[in-house]
Formats: sequence, C-alpha cells, structure tokens
Amino acid sequence: MAREFRKVGIVGLGTMGAGIAEVLAHHGVRVVGVDVSDDAIERGRLHLHQSTSRAVARGKLSDAERAAVLDRVSVSTSLQDVKDADLVLEAVPEDLGLKRRIFAELDEICTADAVLATNTSSLSVTEISAATKRPSRVVGLHFFNPAQVMRSVEVVRTMLTDPDVVADVECLLGRLGKVGVTVGDKAGFLANSLLFGYLNHAVVLYENGYASREDIDTAMRVACGLPMGPLALLDLIGLDIAYQILEALFNESRAHRHAPAPLLRQMNAAGLCGRKTGCGFYTYEAPNSPAVLADDRTPYQPDRVAGARPVDRVGVVGSGSLARSIVESALRAGYTVVFVPYRAPDCPADQGDVDALRDAVERELNRSLARGQIDELSKKVLSQRIIGSTRYRDLADSDLVIEAVPDDPADKRAVFTAVDGVVNPAAVLVTTTSASPVIETAMATGRPSAVVGAHFSAPAPGGPLVEVVQTIVTAPDAADTVHAFARRIGRHVARCHDRAGFLVQTLLFPHLGDAVRMLQARYASVADIDTAMKYGCAYPTGPLEMLDSIGLDTALAVYRRLYREYRDPGYAPPPLLEHLVKAGYLGRKTGRGFHDYGG
Ligand code: 3HC
Repeated sequence: MAREFRKVGIVGLGTMGAGIAEVLAHHGVRVVGVDVSDDAIERGRLHLHQSTSRAVARGKLSDAERAAVLDRVSVSTSLQDVKDADLVLEAVPEDLGLKRRIFAELDEICTADAVLATNTSSLSVTEISAATKRPSRVVGLHFFNPAQVMRSVEVVRTMLTDPDVVADVECLLGRLGKVGVTVGDKAGFLANSLLFGYLNHAVVLYENGYASREDIDTAMRVACGLPMGPLALLDLIGLDIAYQILEALFNESRAHRHAPAPLLRQMNAAGLCGRKTGCGFYTYEAPNSPAVLADDRTPYQPDRVAGARPVDRVGVVGSGSLARSIVESALRAGYTVVFVPYRAPDCPADQGDVDALRDAVERELNRSLARGQIDELSKKVLSQRIIGSTRYRDLADSDLVIEAVPDDPADKRAVFTAVDGVVNPAAVLVTTTSASPVIETAMATGRPSAVVGAHFSAPAPGGPLVEVVQTIVTAPDAADTVHAFARRIGRHVARCHDRAGFLVQTLLFPHLGDAVRMLQARYASVADIDTAMKYGCAYPTGPLEMLDSIGLDTALAVYRRLYREYRDPGYAPPPLLEHLVKAGYLGRKTGRGFHDYGG
C-alpha cells in the first residue's frame, strides 16, 4: 500500500515552488511553504493569489474552492516549520552548495521517515542526497513550467533511492493528476536533455542571422504544432536557467549541441533573462507579463509585406496533390490561375492531363458548394478564372509562376529554364523544393534574383506553413512577393535563407535524432520518451511518434541530406533508425516503427 503524503513542505516559493504548492493544495494536500525573507514569501503568496484568481476568472475554480486552496497553504521564513511534513520538496535556485546545505538541515529537522525531494532541473540528485544521512529517502521530482498546466513530472531515482520511496511519490503524482516518468540520475534527465539541445540550436540560428526570432518561432509552432516556438519558450523558462541547464548538459555529454550559444551568456549578462525581467528574445509589456510588444527587432507585420510586387495572375506547373492544392488555394484567394500539368522531362503532358486536373479542382469546388462554403455564383466565377494548358508559353502573362513538380533537382532546373524563356521578364519564379538548393534552380534561369523557394509544410498537400526561402542573390521584393502570396492563400510564413533543411528540418531532425539516440542508449523507453515530451512540454505527439508519422525511410533520407550538407554529428542518421529501416519497420505506414500499430 502506497504511503499517503498529507503534509508537504516546499522550500523556495519562486515560480516553480509556488506553482507546485498550488497543485498540491488544489488536490487537498496541506502545504507549508518556506522562503528566506518576508519579501520572498510575499512574492510567493502573490503568485498563488494571482494564479488562483485567474483559475476563478476562467471558471476552473469556484470562490469557495479558491479559499480552500489558499487555506491549505501556510508560509514561514523558518525551515523548522517543515518538521512534521511527510515530504519536503526543495525548489530553490540551481546552486549545488545551497541545495546541499538545505538538504543537510532538512535531514536534521525532519522525521526519520520523511521523504526529501529536489525539483532540480540540472544538478545531480545523487550529489544532493549525499549531503544527508538518508540518501535512500531522497528523490528528484522535476516539475515543468508552468507546474499547474504541464502534466508530466520526472521522478529521478538515484542508485540509492529506495524503490518504495519511488513508488510512493509516483502514487502522489497520480493523485495530483500528473503523469510520472521515472528515470535515472543523468544531467538534464529525460525531457531537458532532449529539449535544450533543440532550444540552443534555435539560438545559434538566430545568433547567426539565419532567420528572425518570429520566423524561427512561427516555423516550429505552425509546422510541428508545438505550443510555443523555441525562443519564446526560452523566454518563459528564463535564460539564466537555460544557461545553467546547458552548462550541466555540456559538462556531461561534451556534445557541441549542448555548448551554450554565446548569445545566451551575453543576454544574461545584460539582464535580458526572458519574461521575468520583461525582456529576453522578445520585449514584454512588463516583467512576468506574457504580452509581447513590437520592438526594433520586429522584422515585419505578417500581413503587410513592404515590397511585394502586384500579382493578379498566377501560373502553376505540376500535376500532383501539391500543385492541385496551390491551384485551389490561389483561385479561392481571388487570383486568376493558369496551370500547366507535368508528367516527366521526356514525356510532355497532354490535354487528358489538363482535363484531369481541371476535373479534380471542379470536384473540390462542388464539395465546397455542397458544404455551403461557396455559393453557385462564386463557384461559377472561380471556374472561369482557371485556365489549363499544355504549353508553357500560356504562362507568359503570369506575375508569379510556381513549379510544383517532383523533387528532382535536374527536372526542376529544366522546368525553370523552359518557363524562364517564355514568361514575362518581371514575373517572380517560385520553386517548391524541399530537397535541392534554391540557388541551383535559380541559376538555371536568366533572372536568378527573381527566383524564390517556397517549401510547403506537411501534412501534404500543402500544410499550414510556407517557408519562404531567399538565396544569396534573391531580390528582397521577389521574396516579399512570395510572402504576400503565401499569406493571401491562407498560409503562415517563415522567412529563411537557402540551406539544406531550411528552418523546420534543420531544427526538428537533430531534436528527433537525440530522442532516438536516447532510446538506443537505453536511458528511457519509447513510451517514456514520448510521454515526457507530450505531457512535460505539450508536444502534440512524442518525438518517436512524430518519426513514425513522417516515415522512418523518409526521415533517414532527410538525415542523410542534412548530414551531407553540414557534416555535424547532430545531423547524422541515428544507427537505430537505420536498423529499423533495414528491418522494414517504416513507421505508421507499415504498422510498425518505434511503436507497434498492430499492422
Ligand atoms: N499558471 C497557471 N495556469 C496557467 C499558466 C500559469 N503560469 N499559464 C497558462 N496557464 C493556463 C491557463 O489558465 C489556461 O488554462 P485553461 O485553458 O484551462 O483556461 C491554459 O494554461 C492556457 O493558457 P493561455 O491561454 O494563457 O496561454 P496559451 O494557450 O498560450 O498556453 C502555455 C500557455 C501553457 C505556457 C503553453 O504555451 C505551453 O504549454 N507551452 C509549453 C510550455 C513548456 O514547454 N514547458 C516546459 C518547459 S521546460 C521546463 O519547465 C523544465 C525546466 O527544468 C526548465
């Protein structure tokens, strides 16, 4: 029978301590919160009051429940006041000496069977436990920020932690509605050691001027369905904490991905620590406010792109689902669309291909009519604005021509050369490549400065994000034109420069690869890795589930391409992934990948 913790001491009433106190009190546990000064206690109490008022305002708590929650929390400046607690959780700043001193004191103060827990995110639980005479009753309990919202908590057991203690705290977490993931004592534990390599990578891209903070964050939020972009998340976590975690990770892994980006150190030195100081990567209305203000680093207003050229007529080359999706979106957005179907370089499209594409678009318009999304008149107008042809020269009057043919660099170049020869010299040419450098396609034309990449995110055909890619010779107004077009057809935009993987793959694949390597190192199971990231960081799916959905063979091809370009071990195909592909386990599509889908 698991032990029931009735009274819990919390040492440190900062953001995490106060949040954890609220979670406990909300579930009927009495809490005594301790901090060093009256001011610190007052700040903790304010956190608790504000957070519970917000819960009342959102209808999640009644006034009476709120009063009961507040009533269950008492505060003190004396550590002695936790002496009759069954469990004491320390949540003070990440300073090993400080934590060890507190644990040594708690060891003297608390009853012999009390459990002592640390919320450390980067220090060794073993080293902290060694400051006591009861290391078997010491455990890590790593909550995520905001503790009230994030459902996962890591339970960190050391070599010496008593299995009963682990079982008891796992049971407490169940009572709090949290999902416990139990792991061994390693720097960053599970979630931080996966998360922080990726967050640091985003800082490096930003620091190197590869993309703006808004573009980086939009790309990851929209394309991967993450609740926040990496730089906004760093601001939430606090850049000082992030730096400490990366230092701890690097000291253990010696991996380049964990070497804190120099910009992080500079920002911390300048006091730009994120939301808590009112300024980090973004500028906030006030310290601790989530409201972001425009500042001198705001690159553009998403819907007012300064230099866009006027576009009325859009040409589309291609026959696949992406081409069809672009044709439909452009029509609905009010453009006149000329399309030229595509088969293969040595096999020109014929009238049958034109009719097939037109019929497919017509069917889609009929579906919209049946669903009441458009009326008869608009359907008729839309049908009149679509022109199909087998000849590139019918694209001549287009203001923008988009190629959406299969991703073979030579084929794309051939299409561009042909289109360039016949289309209005002022038109912008767009390639939808995901695999070949845009500059190579641009150089196949006589107007490389007017060539722009547009990578439509998954899910196919044409997901919610377009990465607008400019090469070293792209004219700014050409990129602006594609940006404005993508917005008008209802896509989010992330602007970036021309390099393998653009923004999303560059950031996502090393991150997913870290999860595969963690699995291969047997630190955590498939289920634990996915659970920790889903419930600890609010990912829509865990990293291994994500790879299963992408397809492990497709993912392997992406790793090989990225590694060829960057030669950095972070992009190297994880050996376990290669083995799964060799075994024919390709993810959801074959019924088995990292997970078994019973196929
Ligand atoms: N306290 C209490 N509740 C909060 C809260 C807070 N600080 N912030 C948000 N909430 C609640 C809101 O009340 C709301 O609840 P409701 O939907 O039931 O009414 C819900 O969360 C959504 O909040 P908002 O509508 O205000 O804002 P968003 O929808 O933008 O969500 C977010 C904000 C919950 C922070 C979301 O963006 C998110 O999940 N981000 C990811 C956070 C993450 O990854 N955390 C882990 C970081 S790593 C870590 O902590 C480890 C450490 O060691 C560094």
